Amino acid sequence: MKPIICPSILSADFANLGRDIEMLNRSEADWIHIDIMDGVFVPNISFGFPVLKYVARLARKPLDVHLMIVQPEKFIPEVKALGAHVMNVHYEACPHLHRVVQQIREAGMQPAVTINPATPVALLKDIICDVYMVLVMSVNPGFGGQKFIEHSVDKVRELRELIRESGSQALIEVDGGVNRETGARLVAAGADALVAGSAVFSAPNQEEAISVLKRL
Ligand code: DX5
Ligand code: ZN
Repeated sequence: MKPIICPSILSADFANLGRDIEMLNRSEADWIHIDIMDGVFVPNISFGFPVLKYVARLARKPLDVHLMIVQPEKFIPEVKALGAHVMNVHYEACPHLHRVVQQIREAGMQPAVTINPATPVALLKDIICDVYMVLVMSVNPGFGGQKFIEHSVDKVRELRELIRESGSQALIEVDGGVNRETGARLVAAGADALVAGSAVFSAPNQEEAISVLKRL
């Protein structure tokens, strides 16, 4: 099955965001990945809801919202107001993860749990049957354009096994340093969805770069 392709607008041209969203609308991208950072959970700040309101208005693809913030549950209504399909919260940011997952579902969105590179897949055992998707970070979150962490491929394989054993229907998404080479290996290891920022937006032909990933 072809992977779900989710270009990350963190690497878009913010002075021409409307143009870049229109390119994604025309392209073979399946979802649009939106990275929200708070400067606390991660050492960077990206954009917030006043900006995203306009992105959501233009976007004609489902929004995959990745919150790299502390206490993400505070913003469930704001993410819902964007019309998000998926709300990704970090395992490391949620001491009461089960409650947050239920709250996201009750709000009418699909809950996803994200794990940082140093967080073991095994810690997901008691939540795997409650989530729509797991997002495996293949770089330390906070910045686009970082080098892919090789161990992520093994984590995808291990997660695929956990999903099989538990009878969960969860999808596996991977984010960070994804390009045609790492993407191909991730898909072979069992990834369902690929996030790509710089591999799409730094390409001379962005629509073509998305099509290449779609054919992995
Ligand atoms: C990083 C973000 C990613 C970022 C990926 O913290 O979560 O979504 O945009 O960028 P690339 O694909 O350039 O590694
Ligand atoms: Zn992301």
